[in-house]
Amino acid sequence: METVVSGIRSTGNLHLGNYYGAIQNFIKMQHEYNCYFFIADLHSLTTHPTPANLHNNVKQVLIEYLAAGIDPEKATIYVQSDVPEISELYLYLNMNAYLGELERSTSFKDKVRANPENVNAGLLTYPVLMAADIIIHKATKVPVGKDQEQHLEMARTFGNRFNRLYNHEYFPEPYAFSYGESLVKIPGLDGKGKMGKSEGEGNAIFLADSPEVIRKKVMRAVTDSGPTTENQTKPQEIQNLFDLMKVVSSEDTVAHFDNLYNTMQVRYGDLKKQLAEDMIIATAPIRDRINDIANDAEYLRKVAKLGAEKARESASKTLREVREIIGFRSF
Ligand code: TRP
Repeated sequence: METVVSGIRSTGNLHLGNYYGAIQNFIKMQHEYNCYFFIADLHSLTTHPTPANLHNNVKQVLIEYLAAGIDPEKATIYVQSDVPEISELYLYLNMNAYLGELERSTSFKDKVRANPENVNAGLLTYPVLMAADIIIHKATKVPVGKDQEQHLEMARTFGNRFNRLYNHEYFPEPYAFSYGESLVKIPGLDGKGKMGKSEGEGNAIFLADSPEVIRKKVMRAVTDSGPTTENQTKPQEIQNLFDLMKVVSSEDTVAHFDNLYNTMQVRYGDLKKQLAEDMIIATAPIRDRINDIANDAEYLRKVAKLGAEKARESASKTLREVREIIGFRSF
């Protein structure tokens, strides 16, 4: 069975965009592949060397992924820093990662531009750590978005370079992978592009948002002053609301409001009320599970421990072989 690895950033709560995009993918994949999903807390140190709430952020991400449907009996879900073998492999890979290629990484250049006062070696070697995350389990499939393509290419480079250097076909090549053809794109509520937590307050609906908060955010979503001719093309902000509705509401509901729009009878207040209620219904089971799991410290401890054990079993096997291949021997 092919192995899948994906790292989840340990900053911020999950929103509907994450849920209907990446997480639905993970949930499907866990039934078909040998999946390793981990929370990338080491990576967070590259931009936040002294993160406030490191543990709470990691915990919240773990809770929300479990609540959303990742099954710790099927997939291996773990915290990156619980698997020290990853850091060791990162060290070895660093010896054969060159300054020039690391400096050319677009995500590195972006981060340097955003934070010129904190250009640390960890930031520069972020792709090396990511490569270690992936190849430590000999993964071939990595479910990530387009923005991670270059990192995947670097992971292949580092794996192949290791193989060539030690004359050993050891690491397979990992490739970005998306289940099905097109990922569902979930728009935000600001009338512009996709849902994201960095696009401003109120643009994203979080899985942990209470019904009151969901209603408030949806009622404030950007709209226009209404259609002026029959069957006109919807402007982006209105299309966005319909796109959200397509995800959480029934087909009949979508058709109903579409019809009202096309006959210029639509009242955005009613549409938003319906959208908010359908979002609340769609997310209710996850919200309930978030609360249950958050209050079950014992369960969280068990999940994290099981995940770390399974991940370390795979990682330590690789490390034993890697040390052997490099040439470290015990006396
Ligand atoms: N760089 C990824 C992101 O920003 C997170 C990540 C770290 C990752 N290590 C990984 C993703 C390994 C896939 C595999 O989203």
